[in-house]
Amino acid sequence: MIRSVESTGHHDGGQPSQSPADHGGNGHSAPQRFVRVRILRQDAPGEESYWERFEIPYVANMNVISILQQVAAQAKSRDGRRVAPVAWDCNCLEEVCGSCTMLINGRTRMACSALVDRLLDESADEIELRPMSKFPVVRDLVVDRGRLFHSLERVKAWVPVDDSYDHGPGPRISPENQEDAYPLATCISCGCCLEACPQFTKIELVRREDESADDFEARRTAAFDAGFVGAHAISQAMLFNGHPTGKMIADERLTALTAQGGIQMCGNAQNCVAVCPKSIPLTRSIARAGRAATVWAIRKIFDR
Ligand code: SF4
Ligand code: SF4
Ligand code: FES
Repeated sequence: MIRSVESTGHHDGGQPSQSPADHGGNGHSAPQRFVRVRILRQDAPGEESYWERFEIPYVANMNVISILQQVAAQAKSRDGRRVAPVAWDCNCLEEVCGSCTMLINGRTRMACSALVDRLLDESADEIELRPMSKFPVVRDLVVDRGRLFHSLERVKAWVPVDDSYDHGPGPRISPENQEDAYPLATCISCGCCLEACPQFTKIELVRREDESADDFEARRTAAFDAGFVGAHAISQAMLFNGHPTGKMIADERLTALTAQGGIQMCGNAQNCVAVCPKSIPLTRSIARAGRAATVWAIRKIFDR
């Protein structure tokens, strides 16, 4: 909601402070407007979450990161209590690093490209911010996306280079292949596709008191390996299996894609493609991976 307040020149503690613009000398200052935000907070991993409400001065063309910066600066809830600053992740501020994903008005998206004016059109009363639900919360809006990167390791989403000498120019890639591959290469590992996927369910493990760090890591890795690998990893596997050098380990990627938690778990609900901020053709990648896995499985039978 954007609420209008006539400035009184008096800061009452519970209300946001008066805008500097209101101190104009003509006696006809414009009313300061405010944006209301509710944020689902959590103080530490595994703890109860709770809602906290904030009200910050409205500025045209803000994004959700600007809201969070204002919230941190005032560190005061809407009812005037001093509160710990809200934690969130961001880096590039231009939809490249993939770190600022959160649920904004119930939809998974990037906080840096979510514009407040548009959000207020969706939900005029209050903007709602929640952490992603498919990853363990570290604090407030910060989640542990380790499983997302582990999935990329599972499918070996890279071009293998096992030395450091000069190999000379790489293989030529036709413009048609470049055009086909480029959209897949724009993945920013944001996790939106995983948040929206009904097959990708949350895995949150707590280290036992008598468990060593290595044992905990092994248990966590085994749990991740049993879970669905996710649309982003399937798409990256197809990107690198289509690359002239990357295809050298195509069979290893197909082995991973057809193992437990692989492509057979995809229910083809297509939620992933609907929320990808980069409009990556994920369902095309999934269809390609399905075909490649079938051909590979048949080939394996005849290779025995
Ligand atoms: S198409 Fe597959 S990967 Fe995409 S949302 Fe549906 S189940 Fe998940
Ligand atoms: S495929 Fe799209 S939604 Fe999924 S991680 Fe990559 S950029 Fe994000
Ligand atoms: S801050 Fe990098 S994608 Fe939003």
